[in-house]
Formats: sequence, structure tokens, C-alpha cells
Amino acid sequence: MTRAVCPGSFDPVTHGHLDVIERTAQIVDQVVVAVGTNISKNALFTPAERAEMLAEECAQWSNVEVTLFRGLLVEFCAANDISVISKGLRATDFGYELQMAQMNRQLTGVDTLFLPTAPQWAFVSSSLVREVAALGGDVTAFLPARIAQRTMARVASRNAGLADDV
Ligand code: PNS
Repeated sequence: MTRAVCPGSFDPVTHGHLDVIERTAQIVDQVVVAVGTNISKNALFTPAERAEMLAEECAQWSNVEVTLFRGLLVEFCAANDISVISKGLRATDFGYELQMAQMNRQLTGVDTLFLPTAPQWAFVSSSLVREVAALGGDVTAFLPARIAQRTMARVASRNAGLADDV
């Protein structure tokens, strides 16, 4: 039985993420979607909120589960009997993702499977979605409907708080 992890911040989960999760679930027996914290990013949702939203969206696939993780991804893999890290790859991700894949393989031998991002989502990232939403743009095309609503509501409440400061 092959178990793969789809790790990420998922802040918020986009159609591009869900496409990679679904395709991974067609290749391996079980998929663990692991919600981590990218220390270099300013989060919109808490890890628990992101995991809850992902669990709702992934409920349609019987071999996909969602969990939180902290610390090194390779240690999470070892503790959860996971032999493959599965990641979507956009052209702009290549250098950094290759470096992480090589570091992870060096650390414990766990390998990384790169799935080319579906062309219709190749330009979508959670960071850009957060930026567009924060500046009042429409992000409904890039996110599942429930996630888009929650993203726009969260951004509105953040912006209302900021309005008091400026
Ligand atoms: O969606 P993101 O922000 O690209 O996700 C990045 C994440 C959380 C998957 C990545 O930062 C990660 O793997 N963090 C765990 C810490 C770790 O193992 N660091 C060493 C990577 S070689």
C-alpha cells in the first residue's frame, strides 16, 4: 500500500491544490493532506481553519484524509508510514521545489512526485489570491464557493480592523 502526503499551507485551498490532491489520489492508495505552517508567510486563516475547509472539500474522495503537521515534513512522513511527497509544480516553483525535494531525499530517503499544475490553474497561488482579495478583487474563480465566501469575509473583517489604524 502506497501512502503519499500532499503538504502545504493551503491558506486558502485553491482549485489548483484540489486538482493535485485528486490526481495524487488516483495514483496512490492513500493520500494524507498535511496542513503546515510556512514561517515566511503571513497567514489569513489559522491552521485549524485551513484543515477544516480542506476536510470539507476532500470529503468527496474516500482515500484522502486531512491533518495538521508541525516540524519537519520528512519526520511526519516517517511517523505516518508515508513514502511519497506529492506536489503540484508551476514553472515558477521549480528551483525552490527541486531544492526542497533534494533536501528531503537526503534527510530520510523520502522521494517527491511532481505533478505539473493543470494549465487553467498555473497562475493561481494562495498568496496571489490573498493579495487580490485584500485589495477588493474577485477571487471566486480560483476557489471552491465556500472557501471564496470565507476568504472574502475574513479579508473584509481584517480590512475593517485596519481601517481604524489608518
Ligand atoms: O504551501 P506552501 O507554503 O508552499 O507549503 C510549504 C510547506 C508547509 C509544505 C513547507 O514549508 C514545509 O514542508 N514545511 C515543513 C518544514 C520542513 O520540512 N522544512 C524543510 C523543507 S526541505
